[in-house]
Amino acid sequence: MPDNSNVVAVVGAQWGDEGKGRVVDYLASDAKVVVRYQGGDNAGHMVVNEHGTFHNHIMPSGIFSDAICIVGTGTVINPETLLEEMEKITAADISVDNLRISERAHLIMPYHRLLDGLEEAQRKGDAKIGTTKRGVGPAYTDKAARHNLRVGDLVRPDFLRERLENALPRTNRTLQVMGREALELEPLLERCLGWGEQLKPYIADTLPIIRDAVLAGDKVLLEGQLGVMRDLDWGIYPYVTSSNPLSGGISHGAGIPPRYIGSVIGVVKAYSTAVGAGPFPCELHDADGQQLRDVGKEYGTTTGRPRRCGWFDGVAIQYASWLDGFTGIAVTKLDVLDDFEQVKICTGYEVDGEVTNSMPLTPDLDRARPIYETWPGWMEPTTHVRSWKDLPKKARAYLHRITEITGAPIAYVSVGPERSQMVEM
Ligand code: GDP
Ligand code: IMO
Ligand code: MG
Repeated sequence: MPDNSNVVAVVGAQWGDEGKGRVVDYLASDAKVVVRYQGGDNAGHMVVNEHGTFHNHIMPSGIFSDAICIVGTGTVINPETLLEEMEKITAADISVDNLRISERAHLIMPYHRLLDGLEEAQRKGDAKIGTTKRGVGPAYTDKAARHNLRVGDLVRPDFLRERLENALPRTNRTLQVMGREALELEPLLERCLGWGEQLKPYIADTLPIIRDAVLAGDKVLLEGQLGVMRDLDWGIYPYVTSSNPLSGGISHGAGIPPRYIGSVIGVVKAYSTAVGAGPFPCELHDADGQQLRDVGKEYGTTTGRPRRCGWFDGVAIQYASWLDGFTGIAVTKLDVLDDFEQVKICTGYEVDGEVTNSMPLTPDLDRARPIYETWPGWMEPTTHVRSWKDLPKKARAYLHRITEITGAPIAYVSVGPERSQMVEM
C-alpha cells in the first residue's frame, strides 16, 4: 500500500480567497504532481515568491516548482485565458513545460462568458449571484446537459465539428431569446482549431500521471478552488459556484479514489471574507470591517471587487470541517489581526429567537444573527515570526480556540503573503 499521507488536498474552508494559492506554493517544493480538480478561471490564487507576484486563475499554483502541474478533468477551461496565463508565467522566465491539461476537462467557450454576463444582468435584486462572469456556470450547465466540448476535442477536427454542430443551435436559440445575434459555426471552429494547435503539446490523458505518482508514494497536491460555503451542493445555494470545491470533489475531478486521499489541509483565514452575493452572517459594516479590508488588502484577485469582511465564523468552520474531513488546518492572515484591541469569534447563530450551531438553509441564514465571544487582541506584529513559541501568547490563545472549534490541529500559520512568512508546526 502507498503512504496515503503523500496525497495532500489543500481546500478552502470558508467563502474562498483563504490563501489556497499561497499554501500550495509553499507546499509544492517537494511535490511530484499538483492538480487543480474543479472550477475555472473564476479562481484568483495569489502567489508571492522569489519569482514575483502572480495571480493564478486556472494555472496550478505549483507551476513555480518542478512538479508536473495538471489542470484536471473536473475543471472548465477557457483556452484563451489559459494561454494568456501561460504567456505571463513564461515572461517571468518560468517554464510551463510541466503543464498538462486533461483531455477530459471541459471547455469554457466564448459564448459561455457572454451568457454568464447576460444571465446575471437579467437577474433582479436579490436573485443576482454576483458571479465572476467568467462563463463557469454556463459551461458546467452545458457539461451536465451533455452539450459541451472537451479539451481533447480541440485536436480532433472532425469530432470537434460534430460537437459544435450539436452545441451551437441550442446556444443560438438561447442567445436569440436574450436579444443577441446567432453565432456562426465556421469562425468558432477556426478559433477552436487554433487553440488546439497551441495547446496540443500540453493536452494529455492525465490519469496515468496521477495514478503512477499516487501508487509510487510521491507527493501529490490537490489545489481546491473557492470554499465550502460556495460549494454547489453544500454552500449557500443559489449563491454558489457550479462545481464542488469540497475534498469530495477530488475523486472525480482529479481521478483519485477516496481511499488514497491521505490528508486534507483546510485553508482557514483568521477572519471571514466573501466576494459576491448571498448571506454572510458575520459581515461587519463598521470601522473594524474597513480595517480588515484595508490591512488585509481584501479586494478580489479576479474581479477587483472589495471583499465583504467580518469576524471569524465558527459555525461555518465546523460545517466545513466535517464536510471536508480536515486532517489539519493552515490558518492564514493572522498578521491582519495584529492591531486589533479585541477580536471576535462567532460560536452560534440566532435565527428567529432560537440559537443554533448547525448551518441553516440559505433563506434562514439570511436572518441569522451571529453570537460572538470576544478575545483580547495581541497588539504586536507577527509578520516576522517563524515558530509557534514566538507568536504572542494572546495570538496562540486565539489560534487554540480556532483549532478547538474546528476540531482539527493547526499544521501551518501564515503571517504574511510571502512564501517564507509561514510558521510550520
Ligand atoms: P486564494 O484564492 O484562496 O488563493 O486566496 P487569494 O489569493 O484570492 O487571497 C488571499 C490574499 O491574501 C492574497 O492577496 C495573498 O497574497 C494574501 N495572503 C495570503 N496569506 C497571507 C498572510 O498570511 N498574510 C497576509 N497579510 N496576506 C496573505
Ligand atoms: P478562489 O479560488 C471568491 C464567487 C463569486 C460568486 C459565486 C459564483 O480565488 O477562492 P462563479 O463565477 O463561480 O459562477 O461565481 O462564487 N466566487 C469566488 N469568490 N474566490 C473565488 O475563487 C471565487 N470564484 C467564484 O463571487 O459569489
Ligand atoms: Mg482567490
